Amino acid sequence: MTNNKNVLNWVEEMVALCKPDKVVWIDGSEKQLDEIRNLSISTGEMEKLNEEKLPGCYLHRTAENDVARVEHRTFICTRDEKDAGPTNNWEDPKVMYEKLGKMFDGVMKGRTMYVIPYCMGPIGSKLSKVGVELTDSTYVVLNMAIMTRMGQAAFEQLGETSNDFVRGLHSKADIDEENRYICHFPEDNTIWSINSGYGGNVLLGKKCFALRIASFQGKNEGWMAEHMLILGIENPQGEVKYVTAAFPSACGKTNLAMLIPPEVYTEKGYKVWTVGDDIAWLRIGDDGRLWAINPEAGFFGVAPGTNMKSNPNALKSTMQGTIFTNVVHNLDDNTVWWEGLDKNPPKNAVDWKGNKWDPESGVKGAHPNSRFTAPAKNCPCVSPEFDNPKGVPISAIVFGGRRAKTAPLVYQARDWQNGVFVGSIMASETTAAATGAVGVVRRDPMAMLPFCGYHMGDYWKHWLEMGKKLGDKAPKIFNVNWFRTDDEGHFIWPGFGDNMRVLEWIINRCEGKADAVETPIGYEPKAEDINLEGLDLSLDTLKGLLNVDKDLWKEEAKGIREFYGKFGDRLPTEMMDELNKLEANLNK
Ligand code: PEP
Ligand code: NA
Ligand code: MN
Repeated sequence: MTNNKNVLNWVEEMVALCKPDKVVWIDGSEKQLDEIRNLSISTGEMEKLNEEKLPGCYLHRTAENDVARVEHRTFICTRDEKDAGPTNNWEDPKVMYEKLGKMFDGVMKGRTMYVIPYCMGPIGSKLSKVGVELTDSTYVVLNMAIMTRMGQAAFEQLGETSNDFVRGLHSKADIDEENRYICHFPEDNTIWSINSGYGGNVLLGKKCFALRIASFQGKNEGWMAEHMLILGIENPQGEVKYVTAAFPSACGKTNLAMLIPPEVYTEKGYKVWTVGDDIAWLRIGDDGRLWAINPEAGFFGVAPGTNMKSNPNALKSTMQGTIFTNVVHNLDDNTVWWEGLDKNPPKNAVDWKGNKWDPESGVKGAHPNSRFTAPAKNCPCVSPEFDNPKGVPISAIVFGGRRAKTAPLVYQARDWQNGVFVGSIMASETTAAATGAVGVVRRDPMAMLPFCGYHMGDYWKHWLEMGKKLGDKAPKIFNVNWFRTDDEGHFIWPGFGDNMRVLEWIINRCEGKADAVETPIGYEPKAEDINLEGLDLSLDTLKGLLNVDKDLWKEEAKGIREFYGKFGDRLPTEMMDELNKLEANLNK
């Protein structure tokens, strides 16, 4: 499939290490994929779902101990420990190669190694990059076929001589938790993953390459890999403005990416287009603006809570060609179900563990982190620019988190440097949905805490440098919080489609069409400038949502100072300047 010696030599070396019985090169053809689908049905890896109701859809169950990303088993292996920074687990690359080398030695005896060439980003784009994943999992092959541009075209993108591809090696091995490792060697463009069969740990194009390795590449090559959705907002004149947004897990990134505006907007002709729901690669274009592509080709979304009300576009995306992982299997009609899909759990069903399931039992049928892997082209609101090799020009960058009291509904950073500060202090409060204390603030700068492949201090420095290059063409930076609660703990802002009202103000600010008021933390809308038409929310309530409580913010500033202490002399002085400015503003 390729004459590229760099690829051929490396595959040969890995074959010698893993000793598979057979090596299969994935060309991306439907014929070959069908063979692999049939094989995975015969081995029990996949179950074929109802072809009438869910054409081309499959069900997979992972091992019970293998249902999520494992941050404590995820390593950044740089030669100098300092380069991984205080927020990553580190190991010496020599030590880790040797340790995992022993585990990979002969691990594929009796198995088949699949060689998966894939392209992150549109084929033909200067912003795209190629990876090759070697795996013994047919589940990985079939998921990569949805999540990436996979097959022959990726080798054509790479060319015959280039060495610029990410070398991914994965084996399910024994699904043994004690020996599970997700290891990144950013200085070698290499990822080694062993003893897991779960999405984020094994679909190496996604978090491992497109965020951890790519963030490191971006720092060295002058671009950015970010944990951001990308959406386009079309106005009644047909002009589309693009926004990226970064939120920690469980803040509704996929929902915002596929937002359906309220009727008062749709009847005027407003539309929202989805370019991406998880990852953005950003580069400065010939025009000096910041341009974004979504490196992925599909959505690896959380199933529970997805329904016709919360996110009809996501649900419709899963109606064909989708792989469901760890959801409920409805045996009556051979379809799937999960908590929050509808109020009719199937009576004759099997749960995510593969056991007969009684919906009355009080036990959840789908794993809370059960997933769908759906092709982006299924999405009713997928952007017409989805495959555009140039990407889309970004007007605004939005940060956000889940904060009950502190952060207002929306504010704008004073400038890029202040915006980098706003991103760096991103935080979310834990919810009752996860184990542990509720309401604990977790700092997650730019939502990159688990995904930055190098020192977070250097990452902020890179952001500051990008801002200098962009100058007055830089996108404007904002922070949003959909999750302010009243004294009874109820959400005040309706969220979902109504977030369009906040996006409209953001776009208007970028266009110089809306006013703002200065607060100690940045610019806020005049309450009158947020469109409340058709919404049962008073202007006074909105004013409350925009309120900045100085005492809470003084506490917040203390927490930030403590957090910043972790980064030592790699914390850019500009960030400390911003923190000092914030405190001075609060004490005015
Ligand atoms: C994953 O866990 O594989 C994943 C994509 O993570 P998240 O949903 O947090 O982005
Ligand atoms: Na996860
Ligand atoms: Mn994510």
